[in-house]
Amino acid sequence: MTGQRMAGQVGLVTGAASGIGQAVAERLGAEGATVVCLDVNDAGPVVKGIAAQGGTAESHLLDVRDARTWADVVADVVERLGRIDFLVNVAGIPVMDPEVADTVTTLTEGWWDRVIGTNLKGTWLGMRAVIPHMQAAGSGRVVNTSSLSSARAVPGMAAYSTSKGGVDALTRQAAADYAPDGVLINAISPGVIRTPLLAAQTEEFQQANADQHLIKRLGETHEIASMAAYLLSEGTFVTGSVIAVDGGWAAKA
Ligand code: NAI
Repeated sequence: MTGQRMAGQVGLVTGAASGIGQAVAERLGAEGATVVCLDVNDAGPVVKGIAAQGGTAESHLLDVRDARTWADVVADVVERLGRIDFLVNVAGIPVMDPEVADTVTTLTEGWWDRVIGTNLKGTWLGMRAVIPHMQAAGSGRVVNTSSLSSARAVPGMAAYSTSKGGVDALTRQAAADYAPDGVLINAISPGVIRTPLLAAQTEEFQQANADQHLIKRLGETHEIASMAAYLLSEGTFVTGSVIAVDGGWAAKA
């Protein structure tokens, strides 16, 4: 049960067709915001789901690596809806080729570019597109998506963890640069979250991941969405933070 803390607000969520991004879009829709769902895949079904719950949403195809489409989508939203109050950068990928291990010596240039391009450059391009509108309005919120691996080595995640370390640094940097304009910028660092990708793995694999958390289970997408909603609707004295929602994993020795 949520209140309508974000009624009248308009914002963008990337990666909204699946997993964490979908849950964030649904939660913000339930909070009363108009949610623009962006993804390389069709987020139409998510939009329908939000509408069925009485919320307002729309979807656009966007590759977060593509500066031109960012500019077009943001200009279109500002023209039609008049404002952009928030951006949640969720779109992200690991190396997804079983033949390519994500270590320094085995990575291909193609996968390095794709992972860094999606997770890090995509986050930058999104902020670059929306922040000028937030500066003009004198307020705005951005939530980026980090990972436990941004600050701790997880074997076999070289490009991925590097991209997320970059997200942390960029989050702090942007927070420092735009706080004077009323734009608050944070990142969420999730533990292992039960998304469709993980649900397709073996029971043993899921249990091994669950056991890594102090709270001995996998996280749920709505638990990340709940933090995003807090950062966007409350969190008036929070900026430049990377906030763990990881069942205590990062707190372990
Ligand atoms: P997911 O695979 O369910 O969703 C990712 C979404 O991003 C998909 O809808 C995909 O189409 C979209 N996407 C991928 N590349 C894109 C691009 N270039 N442009 C636009 N959209 C693109 O993944 P999940 O698990 O929901 O992950 C979301 C974010 O959370 C990612 O940034 C991931 O690194 C991060 N994360 C996830 C964790 C987990 O346990 N699931 C743990 C820590 C971080």
